[in-house]
Order: sequence, then C-alpha cells, then structure tokens
Amino acid sequence: MSSSTLILILAAGQGKRMHSAQPKMLQPLAGQPLLTHLLNTLQPLGFPIAVVHGHQGAMLQSTLQPSYPQLLWIEQSEQRGTGHAVQQAIDLIKQYERTLVLLGDTPLIQLDSFKALLAQEHDLTLLSAHLPDATGYGRVVRNAAGEVLEIVEEKDTNASQREIKEINTGVMLFQSALLLQGLPELKPNNAQAEYYLTDLIAYACQNSYSVEAIAVADYREAQGINDRVQLAAAEQYLRESRSKALLRQGATLIDPSRIDIHGTVQVGRDCVIEPNVMFKGDCILGDNVTIETGSVIINSHIGSGSTIFSHSRIEHSQIGEQVQVGPFARLRPKTELGNGSKIGNFVETKALSLGEGSKINHLSYVGDAKVGARVNIGAGTITCNYDGANKHSTLIGDDVFVGSNTALIAPIELGSGVTIGAGSTLRQSIESDTLALTQSALVTKANWQRPQKSFKPSDSEQH
Ligand code: UD1
Ligand code: CA
Repeated sequence: MSSSTLILILAAGQGKRMHSAQPKMLQPLAGQPLLTHLLNTLQPLGFPIAVVHGHQGAMLQSTLQPSYPQLLWIEQSEQRGTGHAVQQAIDLIKQYERTLVLLGDTPLIQLDSFKALLAQEHDLTLLSAHLPDATGYGRVVRNAAGEVLEIVEEKDTNASQREIKEINTGVMLFQSALLLQGLPELKPNNAQAEYYLTDLIAYACQNSYSVEAIAVADYREAQGINDRVQLAAAEQYLRESRSKALLRQGATLIDPSRIDIHGTVQVGRDCVIEPNVMFKGDCILGDNVTIETGSVIINSHIGSGSTIFSHSRIEHSQIGEQVQVGPFARLRPKTELGNGSKIGNFVETKALSLGEGSKINHLSYVGDAKVGARVNIGAGTITCNYDGANKHSTLIGDDVFVGSNTALIAPIELGSGVTIGAGSTLRQSIESDTLALTQSALVTKANWQRPQKSFKPSDSEQH
C-alpha cells in the first residue's frame, strides 16, 4: 500500500543534562551536529521532514538550513512534553495519511530499521529495543499474550515494570487519523507533569486501534543521548561501526578502536592505517596506501602506493601515486602532488602543484606555486607569496635546483633547468638553465671576543 507519509522529528528540548550553552541537537557527534545523523539516515526515504524546534530553535534552524533547505520547521515555544510537541504540528499532520514521529536525540537508528517500521500496516507501530540495561527509558508493557498494552516512563514505573528490558526507542509510525483523535486526549498526569506522546499507546489499545512493537536488529542503535556519557557512548559506537566497515572494505587497521572517521573513507586494496588517524569529509585512498599514526586527512585523495608518515595534516588535497609525505607535514588546501614526489618534515604547502618526482624535503613553505617535474627544493626555502596585501604566484620549471635557505619573492618565475645558490633572496625571474645566487660579502673578525655576562653575586648560586 502506498500512502503519503510525513516524518516529524522532535527536537525542541533544551538538553539540560548536557550542561552546555549549545542546544543538544547541535552537540557534535563524530564531528557533525547531533541532529544531522538522523537527517542523513532519513533522506533516502524521500519523505518530507518536519522538525519541531523550541529551545534555541533559531540557532538550530540557522545552522541546519543551509545543508537541509527542504526541512519544514515547527515551533514549540514552551516544552511541555513529547505529546505537546507533536500537537504543534497538527495542521501539517492532517495533510498526510501516516506520520513517522521520532526523537532528535536518537541519532544511531539505521535506515533498515525505519524501512522495517514503514512496511507495517498497523494503526500504530513503535520501534522498540531489548537493552541489557533499560534504565532511563520508557518500558514497553505487554500482556500475557505478548500484546503491547502501554509504555511506562522510567519515572512512572513500578518495581516489576522496571525489570522490563524492552524499551521505546521513541520512533513511532502512526496512521495520522489516530494522532488527530488521540492527541487532544493526552493528560499530564505523570511524574513529570508533561504531555507524553507515549500515552497514545494505551489510548490506541483502549480504543481498538491495532498496535504493534517491532525491535531494532542491534539494540545499540536505540541509544538516546541525554548527557555526555551517552554522547561518548554513541561516539564509540560510530567509531566501531565505521572502522568495521573499513576493515570489511579491505583496509588493515592496526588498532580498530583508535581511528576516527568523521565523514566517509573509501579504500583500495591493502591499505594500512596506523592508530590515532582521523579522517574528515570525504576521503579516498588508492591501493597500498599507508597512513602513519597521528595524521589527519580532510577531504583528500591519496593515490596508490603513497605513504603519509606520522603526524601529518592533509586538507583538501590531491596526492598522486608513490608519493611520500611527512612526517610532520602540513598540506593546506589545493595542494596537488605529482606521482613519485616527496614532501618531507616540517614542510607547509598551500595551493601548490608539484610535478612528478619533485622533492621538498625539509623545513619549507611553498604556497601559490606551480612547480615542474624533477625539481629539488632545498631545506628552508620559502615562497614569499604575500606582500602584506596581496598574494602572488611562484612558477618553477622542470629540473630546477633551489639551494637551501632561499627566499623566492613572488611574483617570480624560474625557467627550467635553473640552479639557485644556497642562501639567495631572489626578487626577479630567472631565465632557463641559468645559475642565480645572491651573495653578501663575508665579514671576518679574528680573535673575536663574545660579549661577557656581567657578574652579580646572587647569580653564582644558580649556576
Ligand atoms: C523519551 C521517551 C521514552 C523513550 C526515550 C528514548 C517520552 C515521554 N519518552 O524519553 O519513552 O524511551 O525518549 O530515548 O516520549 N522534546 C520536544 N519537546 C518537548 C519535550 C521533548 O521536542 O516538550 C524532544 C527533545 O528535544 C528530545 C525528544 O523529544 O529530542 C525526547 O525528549 P527527552 O526529554 O529526551 O525524553 P526522554 O526522557 O529521553
Ligand atoms: Ca532523550
């Protein structure tokens, strides 16, 4: 049966237990605002999504609007419970046959669980989970025949209900007609004096609606985030599930519990990733790529056979095949490294195109530069690309040799085959196959006496 479906996410609560100036829905989880995890999971379903916002709602809306322009926003100015939150959306709910309600603070529920729920045709189906420790969650109460009777919130449970391990994830699929009829009947007769959405389970049962609960496949999906302990547990869950996915793609992770993937990673065959590597954005590794410990890779492509030595940071860059980077290298955005090139320790690059087989091995800054093939840039070379107001380019042809401790004051062009003597400061372009060097006269003073410290009695004890 096809029917029109609205997705309604409740996200108006303050998240007091976070003790934060930020609304809970914007707390970072795996580097992304909490609510975006659910939004990304739900997007393939193609249903309209409405978010009920309230506490710091303007901040939530302005943060998410640019990435999710299709979201519908509904205000709940006073947070009087999950039932009250749904009530705010009543005019929208009327326009759809079914309404899938979910809570913004359960970010880990998987698409397959939503699909299983959406395949149900009861008047009300809720997604439950069997938790080893159900503390803090609403319990699903069933009769002897196993039929769902009600949900009882933790604070309203009696001793035997507290033993129940089946909990409400907060995800419920309603025939909208049931919501329209039941919502006005909710009463805040409970420990928190709130309008509980969960009271609609008992209401539906008592009014001869069909009610069912189906469980998520992996109970850890059901984790709700109320405090930072739960946020850290969710972070761990995502770390584990994403590192497992990478292992299944064929990567070797030296320690699967010490890798962070705050985005997506695609790997070729036989990649090795050492502990404490972090990926952000969308990253692609070819075959046989090794990334050593402590490196951070952001939105970058690393070609086959390349090695990123330890503690390197690579942002928005394209790295060719058989390239070596680091240790302790910083590749800033728009760095493109040709096949077989090398970037060594304490080298910073930005908007650099480096040709095949070229090397910048030590202690250099090369930015806004196009460098040809087989170029050797000596230790301590700096492209002086900034005049205090504007950025200028450096162009270096093939087979150039730049001696150590050279300053190239841009704009400047070195023709192919140029050799630059060590310690030069160049302010003008050099023709191909030329040796260029700037020299300052050597000054010597024989038997030079270095300045002496003047003696103070109080110093003597310290040395
Ligand atoms: C809720 C459920 C509980 C379930 C648990 C799963 C109710 C009454 N309880 O409890 O059965 O086991 O989630 O994690 O539904 N919200 C609003 N407006 C409000 C109140 C809440 O939008 O007036 C939003 C919050 O922003 C939050 C969500 O609803 O995203 C859940 O609220 P919360 O107070 O965290 O409910 P729990 O006590 O966790
Ligand atoms: Ca919650």
